Amino acid sequence: MPLLPKLTPLQSRFAASLAASVFLLLVYLSLTKPHFAYALELDSRIPSEDHNHYFIFDEDPLDISNGPIDIEQVERIAARAEAGTSALANNDAQKSNINIGETQNWVFPSEAVNGSHGATGVGLPSEKLEERDVDIEVAELRKRAGNTVYISLNTCLQPSSNTTNTTSNAAIPPQLTLYISLSDSNQTPGPGSDSSTQQTITVDGGYALFKGTADGDVYIGISAPNTTAFEGIWNYEVAASIDAPFHGLHQNSSNLYFVDGDNHAALLITNDTTEADSNSTVYQEWMNLSPPWGVFAANQNDTAILGVKNSFCGLRTYAQIAANIDGFTNQNVAKMTNRGLGGKPKEQFYITGLNASSNYWGMLAMVGNSTAHGNGVVGGGGTVWDVIDFQTKSEDNCALMYNLSFCSEVAYAVPTNPDKYPPTTGLPDLAGLYDSHAAQMYQYFNYSLQQIPCNTTSSSQYSLARNCDDCARAYKQWLCAVTIPRCEDYSNTSPYLMPRNLGQPFANGSTISASEFGVTQQLLNSVATNSSRNPIIDETIQPGPYKEVLPCQDLCWDLIQSCPAALGFACPLPGAGLEDSYGIRSNNSGLITCSYLGAAYYLSGAVSISILGVRTMVLLISVAVLMNLL
Ligand SMILES: *[C@@H]1O[C@H](CO)[C@@H](O)[C@H](O)[C@H]1NC(C)=O
Ligand SMILES: *[C@@H]1O[C@H](CO)[C@@H](O)[C@H](O)[C@H]1NC(C)=O
Ligand SMILES: *[C@@H]1O[C@H](CO)[C@@H](O)[C@H](O)[C@H]1NC(C)=O
Ligand SMILES: *[C@@H]1O[C@H](CO)[C@@H](O)[C@H](O)[C@H]1NC(C)=O
Ligand SMILES: *[C@@H]1O[C@H](CO)[C@@H](O)[C@H](O)[C@H]1NC(C)=O
Ligand SMILES: *[C@@H]1O[C@H](CO)[C@@H](O)[C@H](O)[C@H]1NC(C)=O
Ligand SMILES: *[C@@H]1O[C@H](CO)[C@@H](O)[C@H](O)[C@H]1NC(C)=O
Ligand SMILES: *[C@@H]1O[C@H](CO)[C@@H](O)[C@H](O)[C@H]1NC(C)=O
Ligand SMILES: *[C@@H]1O[C@H](CO)[C@@H](O)[C@H](O)[C@H]1NC(C)=O
Ligand SMILES: *[C@@H]1O[C@H](CO)[C@@H](O)[C@H](O)[C@H]1NC(C)=O
Ligand SMILES: *[C@@H]1O[C@H](CO)[C@@H](O)[C@H](O)[C@H]1NC(C)=O
Ligand SMILES: *[C@@H]1O[C@H](CO)[C@@H](O)[C@H](O)[C@H]1NC(C)=O
Repeated sequence: MPLLPKLTPLQSRFAASLAASVFLLLVYLSLTKPHFAYALELDSRIPSEDHNHYFIFDEDPLDISNGPIDIEQVERIAARAEAGTSALANNDAQKSNINIGETQNWVFPSEAVNGSHGATGVGLPSEKLEERDVDIEVAELRKRAGNTVYISLNTCLQPSSNTTNTTSNAAIPPQLTLYISLSDSNQTPGPGSDSSTQQTITVDGGYALFKGTADGDVYIGISAPNTTAFEGIWNYEVAASIDAPFHGLHQNSSNLYFVDGDNHAALLITNDTTEADSNSTVYQEWMNLSPPWGVFAANQNDTAILGVKNSFCGLRTYAQIAANIDGFTNQNVAKMTNRGLGGKPKEQFYITGLNASSNYWGMLAMVGNSTAHGNGVVGGGGTVWDVIDFQTKSEDNCALMYNLSFCSEVAYAVPTNPDKYPPTTGLPDLAGLYDSHAAQMYQYFNYSLQQIPCNTTSSSQYSLARNCDDCARAYKQWLCAVTIPRCEDYSNTSPYLMPRNLGQPFANGSTISASEFGVTQQLLNSVATNSSRNPIIDETIQPGPYKEVLPCQDLCWDLIQSCPAALGFACPLPGAGLEDSYGIRSNNSGLITCSYLGAAYYLSGAVSISILGVRTMVLLISVAVLMNLL
């Protein structure tokens, strides 16, 4: 918003800038005179619900012919407000461009500070109790000393660097600064004003929040730094509220986890949204909710986005990829799911359009309060969570697969052949192939299980601790993990990975020669590395060489502990095949060193492996050996 020359009310009546002054004061006035607000809406350039367009004054902002203007009233207000200062209403964000080195001022007037509260919505399912507690606390504070006021800032646009190295920190533009004064003696807080009467709030990643108690006008200054290394302008959104921060930020909590990805897609999930039992109301409410969160993703080779990483408005402008963000083109898939350990509700994001071999930042976000956004909504400016990192794979013979019907807990990359199963159209066929194979195997097992006296009185049951349902559950877990191997790039050199299928050509026809890939001829010829665990992979899919994240040892031990001995399950012994077939969980939660259903990059360390006690392990006979799986 342009700063106006200081004019006395008398001069201003005749000056050419009358229109601009009148407009700025009208915004202020409209807080107490609703019919003026209505007149203002006639001007299409006034910021409204539509946040996709920046509000840029390029000419006189108000056409006086739009409506009658009560000049006397304007003068009364003019006596109070400094020229060039515009007023903010409760939960009503304003956007403005600001040049390098410039300072702009706003005021949140006492009428609004002492005004009526906005309507807080119903909130998300499990938050209800907490919110009620907060309300009581705020009500008591209010009685003691003024109202709690939240002033929040989001950077929407930032200048660009003229350095060519977009990955260096020098490409991140400097931040704006927010100044707050509660004192009538300092009505234009800023870099040049008395620092004893104002508070300086650093903007971090394009976000700043002031929270304080006020009983009079709150004066706001926003200042853009002087810099020569960047060109262009900033655009920011500032909002004041007596209900809750209009713009939100959850620092130090990302609430977002990387499940797995391939060379163009990634699957991300939130933390469980509730611990409640699956028959509880809150569980059902979550599962029936339309997904409340969205996600932004950005390639790490353009660091400039870090300048707005905490700003919903800035991420909406600069992030390349998004899911479930209102108004973003190329939306990705977001939905509620209860897949994963414990089977609790969570939201998942399936993100495509990524580049291969790239590092990405991902940020969880919420548009407004998740059901409404924009001005007039408490928290309508959007909320952002902390950044996470994730990588895409480099080769095209691993495909991220989830949403299977039998092995419904599978959510990771599996061996594929991009020529037979094109990444854009072939995934359902690939998923169907793996899934129906596993379902068929399970059917054979089920016939065997029916021969065992399972559903009898507990005295004739095979074990007091486990019953046939435990056995069936353990078998399904194990079966899905071993028949649907977790795939990694052949070029990945992590020690816990097992090379597979080395004898087959890659999809582009090239083959592995012992010298070129530094593998021994012995390795090439060995059955374990020259074939896949599941024969349909070599026969039907023909992915070429890939690496496998081996299933976890405890899946096999859980199986033999849970199932009756009559079924003849056993696991290979340590030193006699165990290490070639099964992997060990890492206690570093950033590493998934063995495959289990429900794995994600924060859960892998969290599971107790108390079932380690088993000593008697004989090589498997019966069902499993026939299937060539162990
Ligand atoms: C930028 O420099 C100009 C001219 O020296 C000065 O007036 C202005 O206050 C400076 N702005 C900031 C934010 O320091
Ligand atoms: C705030 O409003 C109450 C009544 O709603 C009034 O008594 C009080 O004087 C007002 N305070 C200020 C600072 O305007
Ligand atoms: C969002 O705000 C609207 C109105 O401001 C309200 O009706 C709705 O319940 C709120 N949504 C949530 C999830 O609180
Ligand atoms: C760009 O900056 C990064 C980090 O400062 C540095 O690692 C990289 O070598 C630079 N690239 C070029 C081309 O200068
Ligand atoms: C960037 O552009 C500005 C203005 O054009 C110029 O003054 C400055 O020297 C440039 N900086 C670099 C690093 O090229
Ligand atoms: C976030 O973490 C940093 C350092 O770990 C700490 O200084 C900061 O206070 C934390 N912020 C919040 C909001 O917890
Ligand atoms: C996930 O949420 C639960 C509470 O619902 C909490 O106890 C747990 O620490 C959270 N996990 C992570 C990794 O933040
Ligand atoms: C939910 O089911 C569990 C057993 O699975 C039972 O103990 C619990 O009482 C049920 N809760 C409700 C609210 O029905
Ligand atoms: C992919 O890489 C191209 C440059 O090769 C870049 O312009 C584009 O932004 C990248 N896209 C994503 C989503 O990272
Ligand atoms: C960004 O990454 C893509 C690959 O994802 C690469 O093709 C492109 O050249 C990179 N851009 C820069 C500026 O480094
Ligand atoms: C998941 O599978 C169901 C059917 O099993 C299908 O209707 C749905 O579109 C799939 N969702 C995704 C995101 O692939
Ligand atoms: C045991 O009985 C329960 C309920 O009657 C049934 O759901 C389950 O499938 C049975 N298990 C076997 C292995 O037959």
